[in-house]
Amino acid sequence: MAKKVETIGVLTSGGDAPGMNPAIRAVVRKALSQGVKVKGIYQGYKGLLNEEIKDLTARSVSDTISKGGTILYTARCSEFRTKEGQDDGAAVCRKHGIDGLVVIGGDGSFRGAQQLAARGINTIGVPGTIDLDIACTDYTIGFDTAVNTAMDAIDKVRDTSTSHERCSIIEVMGRNAGYIALWCGIANGAEDILLPEQYDYDEQILINNIINNRKRGKKHHIIINAEGIGHSTSMARRIEAATGMETRATILGHLQRGGSPTCRDRVYGSMMGAMAADLLVQGKSNRVVAFKNGEYVDYDIDEALAMQKELPDYMVRVARAMQI
Ligand code: ADP
Ligand code: F6P
Repeated sequence: MAKKVETIGVLTSGGDAPGMNPAIRAVVRKALSQGVKVKGIYQGYKGLLNEEIKDLTARSVSDTISKGGTILYTARCSEFRTKEGQDDGAAVCRKHGIDGLVVIGGDGSFRGAQQLAARGINTIGVPGTIDLDIACTDYTIGFDTAVNTAMDAIDKVRDTSTSHERCSIIEVMGRNAGYIALWCGIANGAEDILLPEQYDYDEQILINNIINNRKRGKKHHIIINAEGIGHSTSMARRIEAATGMETRATILGHLQRGGSPTCRDRVYGSMMGAMAADLLVQGKSNRVVAFKNGEYVDYDIDEALAMQKELPDYMVRVARAMQI
């Protein structure tokens, strides 16, 4: 029979995402409600190695559900990619009596979690990233807030773009994935959407679209460009030279990662955080919480990291059909 977990540690790692606080809060309260103690590990794996660890009570997470960012702070830690760093991390967990760990972050953070699980620390991953790029899950905490923030910002750029009859290239985040670009492309009615998964670097197609749309009487031309393609500023210069249409680039950047989480991110964060605590209480390890086909489920981390994810084909085709 699995040994009962006595103390759960929780950390956030990689890029922060709105909804991480509701997830932390849910880990804490769901664990405490089952008689399990909780410790907060500050600054991700970096803080684990530096023993930045404090007891968390139900009151430690009061008034956090509506806050953006992460109350535990986050970091990227190259030392944790090494065997020595991972050995030290497991030793710190043991020293602090942490026999279960919840890691809230993206794929990279899950690889760290996998290493701790291999060293005997029961570890569960919770998908937290605005990029929606984790293959095993249909939802990642932070995506909804990020796309709503980006959508509002793009609406504003569109207003001025129309007034000046300009072309605007708006660059959104997403690392190597095009989910934020695709969703904003549809939600903002963009004339072109550049997705890293499909982009062929043929700017002549863009130039022809701009010229044809101008002839059709369109007052602006909004191009949503994904960060994975980048180079929006130089692209704008080339497009202006080729079309004669004034063109501006706007890189939305980190504003997409901030702000109070939407209802969706609060609820998914709460559900996934609570489920991670429950899995640890059940003696599970090396699992990742996911939302798949309308249900909260969990997968083996090794299997989850081996999965592949593609942009939804029909969604891409609908987005393209809207551009005429
Ligand atoms: P995300 O979790 O959002 O994908 P990163 O890829 O930056 O973000 O990973 C966050 C942290 O997870 C890294 O800074 C590192 O500490 C840890 N990590 C990433 N990849 C590995 C790996 N292969 N092995 C161990 N730890 C890793
Ligand atoms: O993974 C979230 C994310 O915001 C990506 O969209 C982006 O590529 C990256 O993090 C930016 O990282 P940093 O905050 O370190 O610049």
